[in-house]
Amino acid sequence: MPHISRKTLITCCTLAFALAAAAGSIAAPPKPVPDAAKGKAIFAARNCAVCHSMGEVGGCLAPPLDGVGQRRGKTFIQARITDSVKARADFARLYKATELMPHPRLPNKLADDVVAYLLTIPPPPGGFKVSGHKPGPVKSTVSAHSSTPQSIAEGRRLFYSKGCMECHSVLGTGAQLTPPLDGIAKRRDWSFVESRITDAELMRLGVGGEYQEKGTVMPPSNLTASEIRSIADFLMSLPARK
Ligand code: HEC
Ligand code: HEC
Repeated sequence: MPHISRKTLITCCTLAFALAAAAGSIAAPPKPVPDAAKGKAIFAARNCAVCHSMGEVGGCLAPPLDGVGQRRGKTFIQARITDSVKARADFARLYKATELMPHPRLPNKLADDVVAYLLTIPPPPGGFKVSGHKPGPVKSTVSAHSSTPQSIAEGRRLFYSKGCMECHSVLGTGAQLTPPLDGIAKRRDWSFVESRITDAELMRLGVGGEYQEKGTVMPPSNLTASEIRSIADFLMSLPARK
């Protein structure tokens, strides 16, 4: 064993440390810590609440975000809202779905802050209560539609934009408050599906005030007969998911 003086050893260590520090500072600047307070401000500035609700506030076109971290988890939320090649690839890989419709996406840093914020949103104190559709008179008497690619595409657009996703999911996206609608053609016929398209209700129990009904959010149900037909065409075209 050659003799190494204490001084040489110290010099070597100092040099190695300096090199490591230099390499570190070039390769990876310290990652900013996601900031939930900033995320809250970004959420407001980007008008996410036009479609999404929390507690009694917000729109009824999209899954409620109360307690979203418990239903979906960080990886899903990140993949859903981040505008990067990686996030889009994660979304497709993890959920085996392409997007039903393009969803707003944010640059990495902003998305990280928003994710941190969303993970702080608690579920409603009393949970959710979902009341199903009040089946009205069946609008169509045909037992099968002659659906076209156009009517399916129109139904897809309506499904996304008329509030169905506040409670339902298809193709791996949407709310988890009811069983997914994929593969519904195997269990239901056209007139049943058409009769389940309006008048449903979502309540958040224990949110604010004396009456639980205060938390009620009613999705839009002003659909025309032809819109209902298109939505049925879309739903009946969806294969079951594995
Ligand atoms: C035009 C309406 C609309 C706007 C605006 C919108 N979203 Fe969404 N969002 C949806 C719909 C519909 C879904 C469900 C389908 C999907 O995932 O594409 C969704 C899904 C999500 C999900 C997944 C929820 C779950 O349970 O699967 C998160 C998280 C989310 N949005 C966050 C955001 C954030 C953050 C913003 C603002 C930057 C935002 N959204 C703006 C409509 C919207
Ligand atoms: C507020 C929550 C909510 C909204 C919004 C909602 N639904 Fe529903 N939906 C339910 C519930 C709960 C059920 C199960 C009970 C029932 O059949 O009424 C259901 C059942 C259904 C069924 C039958 C599913 C089956 O397997 O039998 C279809 C089809 C359906 N909904 C379509 C839609 C469409 C299309 C929209 C949008 C226009 C929509 N729903 C909006 C809550 C909702």
